[in-house]
Order: sequence, then C-alpha cells, then structure tokens
Amino acid sequence: MSHLRIAILPGDGIGKETMPHAVNCLHAAAEGHFEIETESFPWGAEHFLETGEFMPANGLDILRGFDAILFTAAGHPAVTDFRSSWEFVFVIRKQFKQYANIRPVRSYEGVPTLLTAPDAVDMIIVRENSEGEYAGPGGVVHSDWDNGVALQTSVFTRAGIERIAHYAFKLARERRKKVTNITKSNAMLHSLVYWDKVIEEVSQQYPDVDYGIMLVDAATMKFVQNPAFFDVIVTTNQFGDILSDLGGAMVGSVGLSPSGNVNPERDFPSMYEPVHGSAPDIAGQGLANPIGTILSGALMFKDLGQPEAAQRIQDAVATVLQSGLKTRDLRGSNTTSEIGEAIVQAIRQP
Ligand code: NAI
Ligand code: MG
Repeated sequence: MSHLRIAILPGDGIGKETMPHAVNCLHAAAEGHFEIETESFPWGAEHFLETGEFMPANGLDILRGFDAILFTAAGHPAVTDFRSSWEFVFVIRKQFKQYANIRPVRSYEGVPTLLTAPDAVDMIIVRENSEGEYAGPGGVVHSDWDNGVALQTSVFTRAGIERIAHYAFKLARERRKKVTNITKSNAMLHSLVYWDKVIEEVSQQYPDVDYGIMLVDAATMKFVQNPAFFDVIVTTNQFGDILSDLGGAMVGSVGLSPSGNVNPERDFPSMYEPVHGSAPDIAGQGLANPIGTILSGALMFKDLGQPEAAQRIQDAVATVLQSGLKTRDLRGSNTTSEIGEAIVQAIRQP
C-alpha cells in the first residue's frame, strides 16, 4: 500500500476553519485504499505577529521531506501584505520551482452562475508562476519628490515560457485537446510578442492539440459570454492571477476554486491551495466556504497518482452542492462545519 506524507499549512484567517475539513476529506478518501500521514505547521502572518517569523529558518528543509503541501492562504490586516507574500508564500513557490499554477474553473449543478450562457464550464487556467510581471526586479527613486519614479520589470525567458507551454499542451492531451494562449501582444511589443513566438514554436510539437491565441481584454468578455469555448488556457503570471478570480466568481464564488502550485519535474513537493485569501472580513464566524481547500486536496491526490481518491472527493462535493447545502457566499445559510462534515460523509457513503 502506498504511503503519502502531506504537510498541512492552515495559514491565516479562514484557513484555520477550512483546513480541518480538508484534512478530514483526505483521510476519508484514502481510507482502505492507501496510507496517508498529515503533519500541520502553524506558519503565516499570525505566526509572524506572535514569533517575528513567518516560518522557521529551516522551514523549507522541513517541507522538502513531504510528498506535497496543502496550504490555504497567508495574510492578516496587521501585517503588510507584500511581506506575507514575499517572505513566505512566494519563497515556497520559487524555491520549490512550482512554476505551473493550475487553476481549474468548473460549474456545478445546484450552484447558480453569473453567466449569460447556461452551458457547463470546465476549463483549467495554467498560469506561469515564477516570472513574468511578478518576477520582482525594479525599484523606486525620488519617491517623495516631483520626479518620483517607480520601475517594475517583467521577465520572460525562453526556458520559462517553454516549460509552462509544454505543461499546458500535455495537460490538454488528457482533456479536450485545446490550448488557448491568453496574451496582450498587441500592446506589450517585446515581452508578449516573444511569449507568443515561443508558445507557437512549442505548439508545433503537439499537432494533435488545437492551438489559438486571444488577447486578454477580449478573453474577459469571452469568459462571461461563452466560457465553454475554453479547455486549457496558458497565460502569464498576472493575467492568470486576475482571470482565475474572475473564473471563480463566474461559477458562483471564489470560495469554490482550488489551485495547485506544481513542480512538474517533482524535484520538490508541489503546494496546493484555494484561490482565495485569508478573508479577514469573515474569519472566525463559520461563514467560510471550505470547498476551495477541499478540492485543492483532490488536485493534490490526482498529481500524487491517486486519481480515484481525487474523484471521490470531487464527486462528494458535487453531491453536497446538488443537495442544496451552501455557505453564505453561494447565497446559502450553512456553516463551514456543516458543509465540511456533509462532504466527509458523502465520501464515506457515496
Ligand atoms: P480574499 O480572497 O481573502 O477575500 C475576497 C472576498 O471573498 C472577501 O469578501 C471574502 O470574504 C470572500 N471569500 C474569500 N474566500 C472565501 C470563502 N472560502 N468563503 C466565503 N467567502 C470567501 O481576498 P482579499 O480580501 O483580497 O485578501 C485577504 C487577505 O488574504 C490579504 O491579506 C491577502 O494578501 C491574502 N491573500 C493571500 C493569498 C495567498 O496566501 N495565496 C491569496 C490571496 C489573498
Ligand atoms: Mg489572486
């Protein structure tokens, strides 16, 4: 029987409420099929307020020993957001070369969407997760003077573009064999013209996959008007960030959306987390939708070679949503625990 070791990072805010249910779902889905061991670490912005560090100095060494990481989000109103990102979340994503950010968007029976077309939505956004607009280089000079200047440089490398493109085309082969590159090469005449050129070259190695490009402004319209058009989307770091929140809202709530920060070569553990943040506005009130965290666990199982366990979790979520149980973000009145417990039960008794 295979044995998986999972590091659990409940993070901040609503993460502390959603994560226990996700962990219960992992154990329920594995039961009788494979062994799973989970160990939890209290790292994040609240930990920083208590101890002065987001994670211990040997945090990455600790995480390296696990098969994968299940995380929620880091962020607290008393901590500057860019510190939570750059001193914690991005450290893990960058050091563990999690360059592929996978964000599935799908609609569920029983959950009203914001869409004009009632067709089912089932797409995966593959977001470049290590460079592009969020690469980091830049600076500010003469900040408080009339001649103040801020520079933030995007970085697009051939190696970075090729590897994300290959990931997207391979993923499309497991699905409906269609890749749409969402870009803005009409305006970004250096970076995204190059992005398009390299992806076009990679596409020629996948003649069985239908490949097309779409400008990001047009794509936002297409998301709302005809999302069934999309299968796999490959896009840049910033566009993927924005489009996936739109995708989440479109199908009912960002609280439903899972994601993976994947190191496809498996040199390091990958990290799975809901698309949403720590939601301090609703934290501690039992209002958080736990489904984004729970489905992130399903994505994790699939990548760890346990697709049946992943499917058990996904089916249980669909069953519970169809039964009418919903948290407030989906215009329901059930608590986080009621949803979490119903999903665990549906995994045990499908
Ligand atoms: P957010 O996603 O936390 O919240 C946006 C809105 O959606 C809020 O009204 C919230 O109540 C609602 N919402 C989010 N998740 C929900 C859920 N599961 N169930 C029900 N409602 C939900 O984004 P926001 O407000 O921009 O950020 C809050 C904090 O989270 C900040 O400190 C931010 O930096 C951090 N954050 C961290 C991320 C990470 O660690 N990967 C990702 C995004 C935000
Ligand atoms: Mg975001």
